[in-house]
Amino acid sequence: MKYKTLKINTQKRVCWITINRPKKLNALNRETLTELHHALAILEEDDKVRLLVIRGAGTTAFVAGADIRELAGLSPREGAALAQLGNQQVFDYIEHYNKPVIAAVNGYALGGGLELAMACHLRVFADTAKVGTPETSLGLIPGYGGTQRLPQLVGRGRAMELLLTGDMIDAQHAYEIGLTNAVCSPKELESKVLELASAILKNAPEAQQQLLAAVCAGYDPQSDGYAAETEAFGACFGTDNFRHGTSAFLQKRKPKF
Ligand code: COA
Repeated sequence: MKYKTLKINTQKRVCWITINRPKKLNALNRETLTELHHALAILEEDDKVRLLVIRGAGTTAFVAGADIRELAGLSPREGAALAQLGNQQVFDYIEHYNKPVIAAVNGYALGGGLELAMACHLRVFADTAKVGTPETSLGLIPGYGGTQRLPQLVGRGRAMELLLTGDMIDAQHAYEIGLTNAVCSPKELESKVLELASAILKNAPEAQQQLLAAVCAGYDPQSDGYAAETEAFGACFGTDNFRHGTSAFLQKRKPKF
């Protein structure tokens, strides 16, 4: 796969997707969103890939937001269409992805950048991370799920403060309010992500797929999370992973997934 705005590299079942527009602090333009969608769709079907990591190129930014130059000339209808397309192609797609996705945040994650990190299932921040939702300073609001996912992650009061002030917070503060799962030095970012990845990879992928769907269903107003969980639980019984996991336990072996 060759992309203009992305670099993709898979090692030992972990695929690293690097958003590669460092001169523009990896801002998300239409081309990047389209390429991300394309890559995600291919990697979803790739059996060699069990987990994705999304990161930004360079040391300054994960993603400094949606590309403001592209937003600047849009009409209300075009703005809404862009948000709908972005959500469909990337943000909601990641949230409902059938493999775990981790955001590795090094530097700025602002606006659409923080929304991208929040759409991922887990987040690891370098202590250089600076994150926030500055959209109202541009006369906008978050359009890629930020008004929904930020309150889910940090609670409504803290989310309102971040959304209304548009202020940036550092990695430690983000950790304290539950916006990131871990904080480490920039040098350790890759190893910290891999540590988390290997803790996930030791477990059954088919069960994790069901698990991701059940958790997502609980946040979907059209779904009943408990009913989705029951269905997902039942589906696990039909998997090879279930047969392997239970027989390994009964034979006092470690399962190998
Ligand atoms: N969209 C488009 N271009 C962006 C961008 C964005 N969201 N964020 C940064 N860039 C570009 C800058 O325009 C600049 O390009 P140029 O060299 O062609 O002028 C380049 O990236 C470097 O950014 P710069 O502002 O010079 O870096 P800085 O270190 O002084 O400031 C930030 C870094 C992140 C504080 C600042 O770039 C910023 O506030 N970006 C916008 C953040 C934002 O509002 N995001 C939400 C968008 S909805």
